[in-house]
Amino acid sequence: MSINYSERIPNNVDLAHDRTLQRALEHWQPRFLDWWRTLGPHDFEANDVYLRTAVGVDAQGWASYGYVKMPDYRWGIFLADEIPDRKIGFGDAFGQPVWRQVPGEFRAQFRRLIVTQGDTEPASVEQQRLLGHTCPSLYDLRNLFQVNVEEGRHLWAMVYLLHAYFGRDGREQAEELLARHSGDADKPRILGTFNEPIEDWLSFYLFGYFTDRDGKFQLKSLAESAFDPLARTCRFMLTEEAHHMFVGETGIGRVIRRTLEVMKEIGTDDPEAIRRHSAVDLPTLQRYLNFWFTSSLDLFGSEVSSNAATAFANGIKGRPDESQYDDHVCADATFALEVPDGRGSIATDTVPMRNAMNEVARNTYVKDCEIGVKRWNMAIKRAGVDFEIALPSTRFRRSIGAWADVPTDPAGTPIPREAYERRLPAWLPSESDRAFVHSLMRPVREPGKMAAWIAPPDRGINNLPVDYEYVRAG
Ligand SMILES: [Fe+2]
Ligand SMILES: [Fe+2]
Repeated sequence: MSINYSERIPNNVDLAHDRTLQRALEHWQPRFLDWWRTLGPHDFEANDVYLRTAVGVDAQGWASYGYVKMPDYRWGIFLADEIPDRKIGFGDAFGQPVWRQVPGEFRAQFRRLIVTQGDTEPASVEQQRLLGHTCPSLYDLRNLFQVNVEEGRHLWAMVYLLHAYFGRDGREQAEELLARHSGDADKPRILGTFNEPIEDWLSFYLFGYFTDRDGKFQLKSLAESAFDPLARTCRFMLTEEAHHMFVGETGIGRVIRRTLEVMKEIGTDDPEAIRRHSAVDLPTLQRYLNFWFTSSLDLFGSEVSSNAATAFANGIKGRPDESQYDDHVCADATFALEVPDGRGSIATDTVPMRNAMNEVARNTYVKDCEIGVKRWNMAIKRAGVDFEIALPSTRFRRSIGAWADVPTDPAGTPIPREAYERRLPAWLPSESDRAFVHSLMRPVREPGKMAAWIAPPDRGINNLPVDYEYVRAG
């Protein structure tokens, strides 16, 4: 079904034929806009931003580009097309037809998953709301706003499901999604990473690379769901999510490229000298990476989880790209899990595969994270610089699961707590690292110009030149 833009809420779910639902969502819409005005991007309401808006949900030509003032963005409800005769792809009901409604017995579990996913979307907008003031270029400013409006749309995606399938509970939860706020002492966002401040663009790119990628894997798991409207919603969200990770990956790549240029110019790898030339030294980048990667690992949940097991058994949440596996039921399969042995070493536990689904997803995520790291390291190597960026072990600095609060070094080797505390400043951004990175954050808003600490992108948006005026005074 094509997207209807003539309605107050653009949609491809035939909203006009369900007046009750339409009214409920039209009631929520001004609250969303209020939230956007108070906690969305600070300033820039009047600017014309060169944004992409969804116009269709098929693989080709689903976006149109043009100048939009952000508060006028057409947030809507878009589901990927139905797959005819789609069957449940995993769990106890494997091979049976998918569901158009939520079975009563799974309602609470579905609602919790949808609320948790929905909560992350506005959270990231809140986390990034001040970044516009320190953009390194108009190109980046536009990308930030593109990500922000799409996270707003992802909130709409989850709110639609809550309103359409969860009755009064769902409507209440939709209100709560606007009542919790990132970093709020009384009503924080649900997941830890989404309460961390994002105060500089280095963090923004790393968040895009690591945390939006967690989003990708959560959405991939939910896109397998037996509850078909959820699966279709997530499938479409994934097409938008890809751009967020692109912004992250290319952002970090450009930071590295600029650093390598500076190192060549001044002929040293001394971090202080590099900093004096307004570039980010690679050890600082590594410490920032350690922070965002480890924080994002926790988002997958505990290694062993009975919740994950029931979600899988009941067809609620599958594995990312379920089709890559042979066994979709996993009734007897097991998983070898590395756990702390309580005496400062690593032991292996054999657990039922279904209970290890969080860890399975986390492992595929880590593999995906490695692709960009490899690319960055190639650039470093090509420049003749002896430095390698590395992802820390999934055992390092965890707050959730088997390795929570177990002191290890970044390679994942258990070490005494005292040594961990002592060495942590070398592994995570220090106060002075943060002060330095903040000192670089000065706005550059002349078309085509870049801040000193970042190289220009290879190309502009939608085949436009890099020096296009992607954001202009309204
Ligand atoms: Fe999102
Ligand atoms: Fe995202």
